[in-house]
Amino acid sequence: MTEQKKVNMEKIVSLCRRRGFIFPSSEIYGGLSSCWDYGPLGVELKRNIKQAWWQAMVQERDDMVGLDTSILMHPQTWAASGHLEGFVEPLVECKNCHLRWRTDDLKDKNCPSCGGELTEPRLFNLMFKTFMGPIEEEANVVYLRPETAQGIFVNFQNVLNTTRKRLPFGIAQIGKAFRNEITTGNFIFRSREFEQMEIEFFVKPGTDQKWFNYWVEERLNWYVKLGIKRENLQLHKHSKEALAHYARECHDIDYLFPMGWAELEGIANRGDFDLVQHAKYSGKSFDYFDEETKEHFIPYIIEPSAGVDRSALAFLCDAYAEETSEEEMRVLLHLHPSLAPIKVAVLPLSRREKLAAVAKQIYANLRQCWMISYDDAQSIGRRYRRQDEIGTPFCVTVDFQSLEDEQVTIRERDTMNQIRVPINELKNTLQAKLEGEDLFVLPPGGQIWKEGGNG
Ligand code: GAP
Repeated sequence: MTEQKKVNMEKIVSLCRRRGFIFPSSEIYGGLSSCWDYGPLGVELKRNIKQAWWQAMVQERDDMVGLDTSILMHPQTWAASGHLEGFVEPLVECKNCHLRWRTDDLKDKNCPSCGGELTEPRLFNLMFKTFMGPIEEEANVVYLRPETAQGIFVNFQNVLNTTRKRLPFGIAQIGKAFRNEITTGNFIFRSREFEQMEIEFFVKPGTDQKWFNYWVEERLNWYVKLGIKRENLQLHKHSKEALAHYARECHDIDYLFPMGWAELEGIANRGDFDLVQHAKYSGKSFDYFDEETKEHFIPYIIEPSAGVDRSALAFLCDAYAEETSEEEMRVLLHLHPSLAPIKVAVLPLSRREKLAAVAKQIYANLRQCWMISYDDAQSIGRRYRRQDEIGTPFCVTVDFQSLEDEQVTIRERDTMNQIRVPINELKNTLQAKLEGEDLFVLPPGGQIWKEGGNG
């Protein structure tokens, strides 16, 4: 058996389209540039990524609380944050075809599309603008947030007052963000509407470097624990010139996407920039009193900021494999069980009434715990392949012998090994396997059924 790990973007896009992970937005109208819809499997993958992040970053930590703030915020937020002035791209416009271009995308002085003459560069703000209420005038302009972070900063005192958290502690949020990106593409890598998973971690000034290093390590490990190969991740330190206007230091976690190394997550030391700015623009105090040292200060902020969509793309690319044996080729997604959209597929060997009744009972029982699929169409081999391709870690096969011995087989996606277990041990066995137990650790009455092969 040989395994081909190199994947190109076309294969990922095609798999996502074919199996219902991701569709172009408003496809029946020809699609909407750089907007995407997550299908039945995509939505599960995305929910699992967010759940894994929330569990590790909020649920299992003493020093983190969650928040869910609105997308529309008071317009002063964006004056204070620097986005009104600083979140801009210099663009030139073609005087002939009116297409706009980033200056760094230009190879010569003329329009890359029609060769026409270009204007001088003008600043173009990347925030989406809309109007609050029925009157479309400047006074009613509001923006779709370009990052979730600002919702956290403006609620710092609310959280402090209501949770009695003391420094160092963090506030985590998952939510949509919008950017009128000039250069889009590479599938869901850069889109105009996307989801972020952001942490703003508040620390005492002077301890910020220690916490910055801690978070770089912590976030890198999160991807590795969920199955991304370490060699496909690297850290990229921003030079002083490349730093965002709010950052003192920033490291990107880059992933080796099919188009090359690119940012998966950014970890920034934002210092006291945001809280000082919001104190200035709102007139409210962001002062923190340290009861131990009796000091007053404005906290510094370490920000690990990840993209849900980019994570989904990285997990898909990293999991994709094509295995060729003498008989055939199988495509599979080696997704970590906690990320797999479907955890278990229940497959009756035939549609016959007696067998279907047992299989449906198992299905009804298991779906109370996990997302389960029931598939009785076509040969068992084809059904295994269908589940491999969407990353389902285990298939449960109900055969005629099950009617006699009340046992079923469990087939493992990656090895194709099989065990046979009593139906009344099935749920606990699957639970243990999904948590990483070796397949050949058997429950009472269980036996090894098949090692490897093409099952
Ligand atoms: N609050 C800090 C911040 O927003 P960023 O580096 O601009 O920092 C953080 O964005 C993460 O959000 C990126 O690492 C990426 O994963 C995701 N992201 C940013 N722009 C994106 C886009 N246009 N499409 C998809 N994901 C994007």
